[in-house]
Amino acid sequence: MNTIIERTISFVKETLEGAEAGHDWFHIERVYKNAQHLNETEKGDELIVALAALLHDIADPKFNDGDEEIGPRIAGDFLNSLGLEPGLISHVQEIIKNLSYKASLGEINFQSRELDIVQDADRLDAIGAIGIARAFTYGGYKNRVLYDPEISPNLHMSKEEYKNSSTPTLNHFYEKLLKLKDLMKTESGRKIAIQRHDFMLLYLDHFYQEWQGKI
Ligand code: ADP
Ligand code: NI
Repeated sequence: MNTIIERTISFVKETLEGAEAGHDWFHIERVYKNAQHLNETEKGDELIVALAALLHDIADPKFNDGDEEIGPRIAGDFLNSLGLEPGLISHVQEIIKNLSYKASLGEINFQSRELDIVQDADRLDAIGAIGIARAFTYGGYKNRVLYDPEISPNLHMSKEEYKNSSTPTLNHFYEKLLKLKDLMKTESGRKIAIQRHDFMLLYLDHFYQEWQGKI
């Protein structure tokens, strides 16, 4: 099992060389650690959790003409080259396919404890102090304003609107980040999410006060 994981780590590091900061190796490492931490309580299959966490962002559809199949395909080819059994490989592929926030806005067609664990681990990295940093990194990459008091958040975006929105970064907190706490699937994930959520509320409170020159 250790060599499988070591080889997967090397493959992911090589493949993500030069990836943008929101989905670089450090994001994968954090999700991998979060997933292992959750799995201590949640007791999913360790190898599946580890492989899915490590391979979950191997190719982002956003940067590949919206191709939703490319990540699972690359992951599948790699796991095949390690000679792993087909059942395990397709489980990891299903997790990758169903992991994205966009997928969760559509119909759910696959469920497993390991999917819940890796999805929660990925969502934890989108909230709290790190989530805030990632949101502003993304906003900077897209050249978005930090905040615009004239533009209110759109709380009920469809999949299409979400993909195409050019929202001020602060609106993204209401459009996605503050919703994640209630979407957590595991009990241990929810506990951590609540702390990170509260920190984001505190952050927003300071942000508005500073915006008005109050503190
Ligand atoms: P993930 O890889 O965690 O499933 P995404 O690919 O949707 O998430 O986004 C990567 C990071 O960029 C996340 O931290 C997310 O909050 C942030 N992000 C995505 N869309 C926006 C946006 N419109 N404004 C600000 N941040 C965003
Ligand atoms: Ni991710």
